[in-house]
Amino acid sequence: MGAVSLPADSYGAFARVYDRALGDLFMRGAAAVLRALESEYPTETRTHLDVACGTGLAMRHFAARGYATRGIDASYAMASRARRRGLDVVVSDVRTSVVRARFERVTCLYDSLNHLLERGDLARAFASVASVMGESSLFWFDLNHPESYREVWAMAEPFESGDAVYNLEIDTHYDEAANLATARVRGWHTDAGVRHTIDETHYQRAWERDEVVEILRDAGLETVDVFCFDPFAAKVFGGIEVKEMYVARRKAE
Ligand SMILES: C[S@@+](CC[C@H](N)C(=O)[O-])C[C@H]1O[C@@H](n2cnc3c(N)ncnc32)[C@H](O)[C@@H]1O
Repeated sequence: MGAVSLPADSYGAFARVYDRALGDLFMRGAAAVLRALESEYPTETRTHLDVACGTGLAMRHFAARGYATRGIDASYAMASRARRRGLDVVVSDVRTSVVRARFERVTCLYDSLNHLLERGDLARAFASVASVMGESSLFWFDLNHPESYREVWAMAEPFESGDAVYNLEIDTHYDEAANLATARVRGWHTDAGVRHTIDETHYQRAWERDEVVEILRDAGLETVDVFCFDPFAAKVFGGIEVKEMYVARRKAE
């Protein structure tokens, strides 16, 4: 199961260009949503865990706002980038990670949980997050809106990005019957005159809101709010629902 959810080669060489090609743009839009959530749910206790933290973009956001922030990510290449930024990150799978601490705010952003393909995977991830939450903690995570797989991932035209030092093409497909989305990520990056090839495949699936709320409940978490947002401000996908942000807390005993 783990091999299907996060193939060994995924977020490998791609980590080299992740921020420039996708991450920075996503984070610019997501930062506005995070700031709105921070205003709506203020806290004095500034502790933060970012699950599937990637290169640490959200951790930097929280650190700049005075939070003591930690991160976990299953990809060594992505986690290494975050560590180079001086961030406290361990390589760990969210389904099995054990972090012996409590955090007021836990986040998991940029459709990272869509990489989990089975109900049991999402249940294990939510249980792991619940274990680091206290009574006043909140878990903010996003998922791709199911419509975005049908409308965007199924498009024939690949996503393309590049400049003088990198080139990236992401060719996506969506098999609705199997609820399996595939992204073939190909390109190159040159660094100090050395050319690195990027060639990996990522798998995702759509999660319907009712099922997510039910899996959260089974993990001891209740859904406080869910809302749609578009971190790309309609510049890329115009007109369709792009992502859903969930706000969850521990169920009262
Ligand atoms: C699209 S990136 C998002 C990274 C980061 N959250 C951001 O907002 O830039 C998805 C991340 O999820 C991580 N990931 C996927 N499955 C995971 C798992 N089972 N446990 C931990 N991390 C996982 C990948 O390694 C990758 O860094």
